[in-house]
Amino acid sequence: MSTADDPRWWRSALIYQIYPRSFADANGDGIGDLAGIRQRLAYLADLGVDAVWFSPWYPSPMADAGYDVSDYRDIDPVFGTLAEAEELIADAHRLDLRVIIDVVPNHCSDAHPWFQAALASPDAPERELFWFHPGRGPDGSQKPTDWVSPFGGDTWTRTTNPDGTPGDWYLHLFAPQQPDFNWDHPRVRAEFEDILRFWLDRGVDGIRIDSAAMLAKDPALPEAPPEGPSPFIDLDAVHEIYRSWRRLADQYPGGRALIGEVWLPDHQRFADYLRPDELHAAFNFDFLGCAWDAAALRACIDTTLAAHAPVDAPATWVLSNHDVTRHVTRYGREDTTFSFAAKREGVPSDLELGTRRARAAALLSLSLPGAAYVYQGEELGLWEVEDIPRELLQDPMHFRSGGVDPGRDGCRVPLPWSGETPPFGFSPDDASAAPWLPQPADWKDRTAQAQAGDDRSMLELYRAAIAIRRAEPALGDGAMSWLPVPDDVLAYRRSPRFVCLVNLSGTPVPLPPHTERLLSSGPLEDDLLPPDTAVWLLTADETPTAPDPA
Ligand code: GLC
Repeated sequence: MSTADDPRWWRSALIYQIYPRSFADANGDGIGDLAGIRQRLAYLADLGVDAVWFSPWYPSPMADAGYDVSDYRDIDPVFGTLAEAEELIADAHRLDLRVIIDVVPNHCSDAHPWFQAALASPDAPERELFWFHPGRGPDGSQKPTDWVSPFGGDTWTRTTNPDGTPGDWYLHLFAPQQPDFNWDHPRVRAEFEDILRFWLDRGVDGIRIDSAAMLAKDPALPEAPPEGPSPFIDLDAVHEIYRSWRRLADQYPGGRALIGEVWLPDHQRFADYLRPDELHAAFNFDFLGCAWDAAALRACIDTTLAAHAPVDAPATWVLSNHDVTRHVTRYGREDTTFSFAAKREGVPSDLELGTRRARAAALLSLSLPGAAYVYQGEELGLWEVEDIPRELLQDPMHFRSGGVDPGRDGCRVPLPWSGETPPFGFSPDDASAAPWLPQPADWKDRTAQAQAGDDRSMLELYRAAIAIRRAEPALGDGAMSWLPVPDDVLAYRRSPRFVCLVNLSGTPVPLPPHTERLLSSGPLEDDLLPPDTAVWLLTADETPTAPDPA
């Protein structure tokens, strides 16, 4: 069943993330664009996704790949025009694909007109729209707080007054080119409500809210304690913002969804964002960061579902995105968890093992209750590119770590579509520039063209799994029940007949009695499920659940 006509589509949708710089380049400048996306929309419809989320496409100096927005109501010329975005939205809707855009409310670009006006004079009223503050010490030369950026490094930069003397400092939780808005100011609130209307009026079906838990700050600017509540993450005041956004979204027909990027360790605090009058959904970073380990995954799934149930929000299942090491690479490492703190170069990865596990993880994440996300290239089995020449790296996270952290470029390499050599159809043959990040020569086997029609490929596995998910409404929102199996195996039922089994043990396990084998992530040996393999089965009825003893 497609979710196209369902106003509650966001509860069970399969959402594909497009990173516009790296999806498809129609004009040959080596950077993806909206025209390239429009040419490839049929691929997404064919893949069977319900919705497409676009990472930021607005005018931006690109200090943080577009997450530094200088105009929220237009399209960066490198990507195209506003008219093209409108046509893209219409094209997507014709193909029954919903459109989700990325709104960045915590901060803008330092090139944003408000910030430029604020910098121009200490008396400018625009100063109030940001966090300008005198420094500490007699000459104000010490930053107002020692808050550390999630990007690493300082969160304050000192300004220079028009007369050349050192001035106040401004807050930027991310890079210095990303000044934080002051959400206590009514003009900031009104501006963003207007921006939301601007895009919802253009037919956008959902908003992904960047850094959603960071908008409110403690105005007393206390230091961040090593443990306990942060003065800039997850303050209670943030909820009123989302309540007003929800009222706004609810005024539109057809089910417009608000989806938060909420990285919080506390499940209760996380669920607070999903109360019925706040956001519709939020990304599940616990699942993304979880080890490839049956007990850890079972606990994560249980905790996730338990946290969402009281607020009646759908869980989301995310394996990769534009900020994290691709999961083919993660799952091939000895330590299969993800955390920014542990993201370091030179950690060996067995990509064959990682790919086998990623295939099993696809069947797992696509059959859990709720909505699921696919990050572009995941369906091609792309791995993290770890050997990008230093001089080509662009991510501020890399530079701000003093080069210790490889940054996020390795998961942002342009997609391979076809052909035997780079640019693999990402750019046209007569392109004037190479892809903005170099593609590995080995991706010739991972192009969409090379995989199409090959039943053993990752692409065909995703296509088959998504087709089954669409045909089987019980696979979206709804209940699941665990089946009694050995500890290092996951087995659950999603409907009276549908069962998923994932073998995370080191030895083959027998399949439970079944009437039909719908799909498996790898070849089965007789009726045995090999290690790191998953299978979807139909059973005769609810009773025969336990696998036969081996
Ligand atoms: C979010 C985005 C990330 C960006 C950051 C600052 O975490 O996903 O890419 O760098 O916000 O905007």
